[in-house]
Amino acid sequence: MDLFEHQAKELFAEYGIPVPRGIVAHTPEEARAAAEQLTGRVVVKAQVKTGGRGKAGGVKVADDAADAHAKATQILGMDIKGHTVHKVLIEEASQIAEEYYFSFLLDRANRTFLAICSASGGMDIEEVAHTAPEKVAKVPVSPLTGVDRATAREIAVAGGLPQQALDGAAELIEKLWAVFVDEDASLVEVNPMILSADGQVKALDGKVTLDENANFRQAEHAAYVDKAAEDPLEARAKEKHLNYVKLDGNVGIIGNGAGLVMSTLDVVAYAGEEFPGQPKPANFLDIGGGASAEVMANGLEIILSDPSVKSVFVNVFGGITACDAVANGIVSAFQLLQSRGEEVTHPLVVRLDGNNAALGRQILADAALPRVELVDTMDEAAKRAAELAAVGA
Ligand SMILES: Nc1ncnc2c1ncn2[C@@H]1O[C@H](COP(=O)(O)OP(=O)(O)OP(=O)(O)O)[C@@H](O)[C@H]1O
Ligand SMILES: [Mg+2]
Repeated sequence: MDLFEHQAKELFAEYGIPVPRGIVAHTPEEARAAAEQLTGRVVVKAQVKTGGRGKAGGVKVADDAADAHAKATQILGMDIKGHTVHKVLIEEASQIAEEYYFSFLLDRANRTFLAICSASGGMDIEEVAHTAPEKVAKVPVSPLTGVDRATAREIAVAGGLPQQALDGAAELIEKLWAVFVDEDASLVEVNPMILSADGQVKALDGKVTLDENANFRQAEHAAYVDKAAEDPLEARAKEKHLNYVKLDGNVGIIGNGAGLVMSTLDVVAYAGEEFPGQPKPANFLDIGGGASAEVMANGLEIILSDPSVKSVFVNVFGGITACDAVANGIVSAFQLLQSRGEEVTHPLVVRLDGNNAALGRQILADAALPRVELVDTMDEAAKRAAELAAVGA
């Protein structure tokens, strides 16, 4: 999960990392009030989870509160690389002497953590990394020894930071390592890390990616979830502990086991090429190896409430959860939906194979559910589901 800049800075502040004072505003009026409170020159910064905001016109200096109102009016609602600006950070303007770049990240290819540091930070860092890579120091960090003050200083020296910035940078880097480790982050980036006119080293920007696999031991991270940006179907699926990812096609997919579901997506996309409108998978949904009938019901319910879904392909290879349990799940999902007055209007293509397949098929045949078709093979079922989506589209 990526954090907004203001969230990253709030987190930095908890670790004693110097950041400018700032207030979040959702309207130009709030921006004016924030600037009045901060007094003096402020910077109005678009809060979107993408880089390059400055270059896109999403970071603007304002001379006073009235100007902050005007700048916020320009920035709110702006589209930056497909992200709409819903809030701005009003921040006291820093007197910048120099801008540096610093980050900790997980270097997957080399199976290590990496510190990246450069004295040539700021908005052109990508360009610097490209044209003058020797100006960007990449220092592997051992998770066993971590980063103490001395190591932090070595990293700053490797990045070419000047003498007068070393103490401040070393302190900041050591604290960023604490953020990185204690918060289970996979990225902590500060660009620019500045040397201010009065000799202080501060974090002027902040980008943090938290590892969601650690959510079980990071209860406070739930507060960072951007509810407004979450896909409503994905949010509902998450509440029900389903492995669901919304995609942009119109064939709903349910399967058991991530591998089977992944290949089902491929087979459906391939089969869809033959039909008008080229139907594609509408989602990924893995009900898992040991899924119960209830999980099947929850999954079907989520998929059928997706307005872009025209047909559904249930692809199950019975293992731990045998096919009869899956079949019962489908039957109870229909009952559940019916009890809520929601008619199942879309066709369901079901392929059951593996453990207790015959029994599962029998259960479905006996239930005589409207709009359910049993197909024997995965390829044929994918083709039929795509065909039905094309007809319904
Ligand atoms: N509080 C501040 N005071 C003065 N100048 C600032 C302040 N915040 C940002 N700036 C200036 O604006 C530039 C861009 O801001 P920032 O780095 O936060 O956004 P960005 O363009 O999205 O960053 P990136 O290029 O890392 O994606 C900074 O490099 C800095 O020069
Ligand atoms: Mg930046």
